[in-house]
Amino acid sequence: MKPKTIAVLFGGRSGEHEVSLVSAESVMKALDPTRHTVVPVGVDKEGRWWTGPGAMAYLRRGEGEAPADCRPCLLPPDPTRRSLIVFSDDGSEEIPIDVVFPVIHGTFGEDGTMQGLFELADLPYVGAGVAGSAVAMDKVLQKRLHRDAGLPVPAFLHYYSTAIRERAEEIAAEVEAALGMPLFIKPPNLGSSVGISKARNREELVAALRHAALFDRKVLVERAVPEAREIEVAVLGNQDPVASIPGEVVPSNDFYDYDAKYVDNASALHIPADLPDALADRVRALAVKAFRTLDCEGMARVDFLLSRVDGSLFINEINTIPGFTSISMYPKLFAAVGIPYAELLERLIALAERRHAEQRALLRSYTPKTDWHRRDG
Ligand SMILES: Nc1ncnc2c1ncn2[C@@H]1O[C@H](COP(=O)(O)OP(=O)(O)O)[C@@H](O)[C@H]1O
Ligand SMILES: [Mg+2]
Repeated sequence: MKPKTIAVLFGGRSGEHEVSLVSAESVMKALDPTRHTVVPVGVDKEGRWWTGPGAMAYLRRGEGEAPADCRPCLLPPDPTRRSLIVFSDDGSEEIPIDVVFPVIHGTFGEDGTMQGLFELADLPYVGAGVAGSAVAMDKVLQKRLHRDAGLPVPAFLHYYSTAIRERAEEIAAEVEAALGMPLFIKPPNLGSSVGISKARNREELVAALRHAALFDRKVLVERAVPEAREIEVAVLGNQDPVASIPGEVVPSNDFYDYDAKYVDNASALHIPADLPDALADRVRALAVKAFRTLDCEGMARVDFLLSRVDGSLFINEINTIPGFTSISMYPKLFAAVGIPYAELLERLIALAERRHAEQRALLRSYTPKTDWHRRDG
């Protein structure tokens, strides 16, 4: 069998640039070299694309001139090429790509923009498509679809940031009357807990609304789940996805904020989560339903909040490009149910190819049998 060329994308223009490098490094190490040729593709913080053996080291350094083994490159949207164009001092060459594996978290990687480019380029790619990625990225749209599908989400409201800048006090009063306290206030399109605060009173709410409004054009406000446990489920598949067992994150801080995620390194993962069987089954079924509600494909990690106070369970969010280091929750949950890291990658690549083949088989044009609509003919 001819080895497949897999372009692994990392870095990107988001707050999760560094996390992405760690995830992608694990992916590239684990891809079976007898079955695949890995083409590393790094997107730097300015959005320039780089490839070559030195691309990862160059992005890690994050400054200075690119070394000789790291060349500028582009993925053209032209579907007749299906190649990476690599530039050198004396011209350019094309590297044909079989599958793209995007490991870029957050903005311009996980939000459908990058996926749109892969669609235009007619390349199979791992993970959710354009709409699934975009909707999962936007916590307001995501929650509205979940609520519409009858899935449990905390009560929420959302406002435009322009409105918050004009009348934060008025909005805060309205929010408190509708949802009470305490609340979580979030910029809906960010990740890694950036811009998120918890408000326990009106004053904190006003400050939190103003703070979140700095990061996004909308702000989401939702009722806090009291003493929430953080339960996470990994989902794998296209139209018939499977759920892993649930795991639990025990954050090192009051909530799972940026420091707890990346700085303190003290948050513990428990696999499996300590849950009664019936509840674990319910969480897994909800994870699959949420995945399908948002039209996800390939992979996603579905995060839940489970109240220690009254046992109420809510879907918190879906991540379509979850953390992918070998010690991240998503791969560890599947490893725990007998799908080791390297095999998980093979399955994701196969799912990407299957979706692409299915899409290619669809009719792309339609020739009407009659010409009734041709008024000018
Ligand atoms: N409604 C809520 N009730 C209780 N805790 C919450 C709520 N929403 C968010 N949190 C806490 O904030 C963290 C980050 O929120 P989340 O919506 O997951 O944003 P991100 O996309 O940045 O991970 C969660 O992991 C949880 O600890
Ligand atoms: Mg989260």
